Amino acid sequence: MSTTPRGTDRQQAARDHLWMHMARHSHLASGGTVPVITRGEGHNIYDDAGKEYFDGLSGLFVVNAGHGRTELAEVMAKQAEKLAFMPLWSYAHEPAIDLAERLAGYAPGDLNRVFFTTGGGEAVESAFKLAKQHFKMKGKPGKTKVISRALAYHGTPQGALAITSLPDMKTPFEPLVPGTFRVPNTNFYRAPEMFADNEKDFGLWAAERIREAIEFEGPDSVAAVFLEPVQNSGGCFPPPPGYFERVREICDEYDVLLVSDETICAFGRIGSMFACNDFGYVPDIITSAKALTSGYVPLGVMIASDRLFEPFTKGDTTFYHGYTFGGHPVAAAVAMANLDIFERESLNENVKNNAEKFKETLSKLTDLDIVGDVRGAGYFYGIELVKDKSTKETFNDEESERLLRQYLTPALWEAGLYCRADDRGDPVIQLAPPITIGQSEFDYIESTLRSVLAEASSKI
Ligand SMILES: Cc1ncc(COP(=O)(O)O)c(C=O)c1O
Repeated sequence: MSTTPRGTDRQQAARDHLWMHMARHSHLASGGTVPVITRGEGHNIYDDAGKEYFDGLSGLFVVNAGHGRTELAEVMAKQAEKLAFMPLWSYAHEPAIDLAERLAGYAPGDLNRVFFTTGGGEAVESAFKLAKQHFKMKGKPGKTKVISRALAYHGTPQGALAITSLPDMKTPFEPLVPGTFRVPNTNFYRAPEMFADNEKDFGLWAAERIREAIEFEGPDSVAAVFLEPVQNSGGCFPPPPGYFERVREICDEYDVLLVSDETICAFGRIGSMFACNDFGYVPDIITSAKALTSGYVPLGVMIASDRLFEPFTKGDTTFYHGYTFGGHPVAAAVAMANLDIFERESLNENVKNNAEKFKETLSKLTDLDIVGDVRGAGYFYGIELVKDKSTKETFNDEESERLLRQYLTPALWEAGLYCRADDRGDPVIQLAPPITIGQSEFDYIESTLRSVLAEASSKI
């Protein structure tokens, strides 16, 4: 039951009824407020008091083409008028067929088979299930285990969460799906001392840890390795040179599927439709979501190779897996129109042409004592904050709490920059703005961060 008359006090209604995701609610329970965003235009969003903020995170790595595209709204309305819903459960509709054909055209190698979901976690879940069924059909039923990397986030369904490598997010829901194992990620800033000056050797070392984990678990028990092209959680870890080449060789040698989880990295975030193309590897499966529609409606996708689909072309073999809303006609139509915008406005080229300038601009911040590292690729960067730059000493939990939650998050918001201050690994600020922007916006981001970060040390 509502305690306030409906529509009269949104803050009170939020306090009383809204359950936000991954969020603490204690400040609301004690009378605090939540930012309420009412509209977006280009790379800006506006709150209910009309204040403008720079959307430095594209919502949540989603709104790559920018806010306020009326063209996408019109496509939605038209599709809803023509055919609002039809499932893909043994039937098809035009937008899903057209989008599947288009995505297969962007994907590398023989990744030609497109299975739609409504988001990234469901795409990861689908890939996990496909990997298991694949090996059962292949006469290797013991191959069920999955390897992923330290600190990686792969979603919240119980299978995807089992692959996720963030203990605090998993513990409340255990036991999860068994049989997932971790290897080191590619955080070069915190690489073992012996690789301090040699990123390539570090990459090969990190790839070998996957081989080692397969050996430790037993090659007959391992089905798949899930990796992001650039790992988000922990603060943007790009792959060192040679890393994916070696991982691909290892997966081939042990008959283990390589899943490229591009929930964030696809659709322009790194500068191509699929980021495996940016880094020159061909996975067995791509999972993605987020910017496929630039967030105008939810849609996710799992793209599998011909080899993985082939058994399903025979007899009554079926992938008993599906989502009512997977590949929704309105979502598929919006994805097509969103990708038209990408091509018409050369958005991937914009990222390719400007990524280095973005990184150089952000790297100016390394003159601040608190900034230890600026890393990433494309329009996707993490800025690691440190207590002592010379030793790379990080903050303890209590300092991190004060720095990120009590100071940085509200201070950046106050300064008009929406981005993420994240402490799932060492403290980082993460940036993933709409891919429409250029140098003047890079400068704005840098100067806003500079003024807030310059104050930060004194707040710990
Ligand atoms: C790499 C990766 N995989 C999976 C997911 C889960 O996606 P969703 O929230 O759409 O379920 C995310 C979400 O951020 C992600 O970054």
